[in-house]
Amino acid sequence: MRLLDKSSSEFLYQQVIDFVEDQEKSGAIRAGDKLPSLRKLSRQFEISIPTVKQAYIELERQGSISARPQSGYYLKAKQARTLKPMRSLWASCQPVEISCRSIIEQVYEAVHLPDTVALGISNPVNAHPPDKALARLMRSVLSKNAEKAVSYGPVNGDPKLRLNLAYRYHEQGVAINHDDIIITSGAQEALSIALQCVAERGDIIAVESPCFFGLIELIESLGMKALEVYTCTEQGICVEELTKVIEQHPVKACLFSTAISNPLGSMMTNQQRQNMVSLLEKHDIPLIEDEVYSDLYFSKDRPVPAQLYSKKGLVLTCSSFSKTAAPGYRVGWLLPGRFEEAAKRIKRAQSCSTPMLQQWTLTDYLMSGEYDRHLQVLRKTLRYNCERMRALIASHFPPEVCISQPQGGSVLWVRCRSHVDTSKFFTQAIAKGVSFAPGEIFSPTGQYKNFMRISYGVKWCEKIDKAIADLGKLVHDYPEKS
Ligand SMILES: Cc1ncc(COP(=O)(O)O)c(C=O)c1O
Repeated sequence: MRLLDKSSSEFLYQQVIDFVEDQEKSGAIRAGDKLPSLRKLSRQFEISIPTVKQAYIELERQGSISARPQSGYYLKAKQARTLKPMRSLWASCQPVEISCRSIIEQVYEAVHLPDTVALGISNPVNAHPPDKALARLMRSVLSKNAEKAVSYGPVNGDPKLRLNLAYRYHEQGVAINHDDIIITSGAQEALSIALQCVAERGDIIAVESPCFFGLIELIESLGMKALEVYTCTEQGICVEELTKVIEQHPVKACLFSTAISNPLGSMMTNQQRQNMVSLLEKHDIPLIEDEVYSDLYFSKDRPVPAQLYSKKGLVLTCSSFSKTAAPGYRVGWLLPGRFEEAAKRIKRAQSCSTPMLQQWTLTDYLMSGEYDRHLQVLRKTLRYNCERMRALIASHFPPEVCISQPQGGSVLWVRCRSHVDTSKFFTQAIAKGVSFAPGEIFSPTGQYKNFMRISYGVKWCEKIDKAIADLGKLVHDYPEKS
């Protein structure tokens, strides 16, 4: 075991710094790993705890490690170049009718290809799947309710599940009744109902830019037009910019992920969220908030739903268990605000009800306390994966590449040099056994061609290292501008 040289002229804390850096160089610790506790290192090196602390504080100051409250110190991805906060000119965007692009289809299909490392779809649950606990609960639920499970359930969903969701919103300060919630088939159905409640064909819907391609497709399928509002890589939608956009265009509704966005992983502050709701309600513009990633935050506290700030009932909240527990169960929900009657009618017309077996299983999961324990581990795992993936990309991609520093969720947004078109090497990547999401599908106007979204919602294994090395090579080998 290595010991410090107490007779050396070098300070002891500096020797601790050297030790940490050597450990990193040798690969004994990697980005995202927890460093030994202060007590452990002080015992190991027979030095005082304040000396170790001084070393860790210095490493933190240099940006190599970060402290997490009540947890300890963690190694950060050293080489990763972070995307700088950026905003483009709001005036440059125009509402557009979206055309469906086959590349989205290929991204979805790649998930099911054998022997392919699927980094194109955001499925955080892969990082820590709760499948065994859910299977056990489902067996138990089914054995007691086999007959009822094959019947239609209530249009607005299982009352017990709605009650549990209402409790959770109460904990965040949102005073809603369980009758104010409609259970849906995933968040996608909630978003579809919400859009149909507030807008019609031809209406303009403001979306974040870049925006999750599933939302772009949804808007297209309803015959509405998407208007891109440029979004800061760190703080999400900028309220000043949104003010200009709604002055300039007849925006019928906004559809934003104000907590953790996809693909940026940006997060508005609670204050900004409140300002945005006041602005929109002042202009009678409904806000559809997409909360699917809100429980996957890396900060100390959960971001507050925009619903909390609604005074006129114009905020419609959509979420699901897809990013936290079981995307395959297709259980989501909608808080329709003042559009409750319309929302129930559309749900009834669209899908009648949501399967009960999955709802009962998730209710038991919530009530047993297992869901919250699972969330804690999932968040930790994702945070760890995030740093590891950033470090891996930084070491395999060309030095000009910049990588987002998400505030939660499960994806990284990676910018290559401006002439690179990442869609052009998508098929080659698939041939090498790795998928990603090309940047252009995150914009209805096909911007972001030189970006790619890479998911770190994965069970970590050696294949990931090779997959990123292969992707890095494709970016390295991209032809220079002629
Ligand atoms: C931002 C965002 N909203 C909504 C959805 C759809 O969620 P669900 O699977 O619950 O329908 C996704 C899924 O990828 C998403 O990323």
